[in-house]
Amino acid sequence: MIHTLNENDIPALLALSQSAGWEHTREDWRTLLLAGTAYGHRDESGRPVSSLVVTEFGPRMAALGMLIVCQKNRRLGLAHDLMRHAIAGNRPTDRPLVLVAGSKVEGFYTPFGFKTVERISKLQAPPGTQVAGSGFADKIDLVPLDDANRMRMIGLDHQVHGYDRSRMLKVRLEQACVRQVALKKGQETLLGYGAGVLQGEQLLLGPVIGFNLFTAQEMAAALMESHAGPVRIDVPHQRRDFIETLLASGFEELDQQPIMLLNATELPGRRDHVFALTSQAWS
Ligand SMILES: CC(C)(COP(=O)(O)OP(=O)(O)OC[C@H]1O[C@@H](n2cnc3c(N)ncnc32)[C@H](O)[C@@H]1OP(=O)(O)O)[C@@H](O)C(=O)NCCC(=O)NCCS
Repeated sequence: MIHTLNENDIPALLALSQSAGWEHTREDWRTLLLAGTAYGHRDESGRPVSSLVVTEFGPRMAALGMLIVCQKNRRLGLAHDLMRHAIAGNRPTDRPLVLVAGSKVEGFYTPFGFKTVERISKLQAPPGTQVAGSGFADKIDLVPLDDANRMRMIGLDHQVHGYDRSRMLKVRLEQACVRQVALKKGQETLLGYGAGVLQGEQLLLGPVIGFNLFTAQEMAAALMESHAGPVRIDVPHQRRDFIETLLASGFEELDQQPIMLLNATELPGRRDHVFALTSQAWS
């Protein structure tokens, strides 16, 4: 039987994601539960042995993420059960569903009708890495993301994604340890925004939304500036130029993973402005 999971389940969910080798923290799980709904099976003691998080972005998109089944309950059909539950509960029924699949798990989702529409590169930088300057730093003002520019940031995010991510963004930005917006030098024109959350020693950078490569580059450099540990970032292949820039700055590619869609053939919005995902759970 599938249950809706809640904040009391966070310790067990954390153990579940750690057992899969994932880096999510207690705070990540808290944010996931605030922004979306987690489903899972429980064992006899009531402890979750599986998870799937559905995050709704209004009537035009929902994201699936955090599909995990604990080792000893695998190959019993639990993951299929959770996927069928999420697809059957999707409203409207033809609403697109998006997910980022593990590089070796793509084939699990295709029988449900999911198709790969894009890929991301999962990149990591060792401590002390600095993103190369764009040469356009003097054209951009980087200022804190605060109440004064929050509504405009949400508006930009809506345009870029083509659906409303405001609820998820609100909680993720509260969790973020660094966040800023990029403005055209001396003006109010919003060029982009970025944020990052801590996962232990590691800074997970994202979202990074930018008008162009140079904006993204300057934002990434500034967001990483005060961080002494390693950095992780997921960059869509549509921004191969950003991937090349990061690789040239000392990042290395850990993996490539598919972004998959059901009920749609392409991602809406103006995705060429997405330089980094917010998290794989929200695509
Ligand atoms: C992937 C995962 C969720 C599957 O959970 P599960 O409950 O064992 O899956 P089910 O029992 O519902 O289905 C098993 C069937 O799914 C398919 N399947 C499972 N993993 C697959 C994969 N990596 N690629 C393709 N098909 C896969 C197979 O048909 C499998 O049947 P088989 O074992 O007889 O070949 C589980 O292995 C897991 O938690 N892995 C670690 C976390 C992870 O990678 N999650 C997915 C992130 S995108």
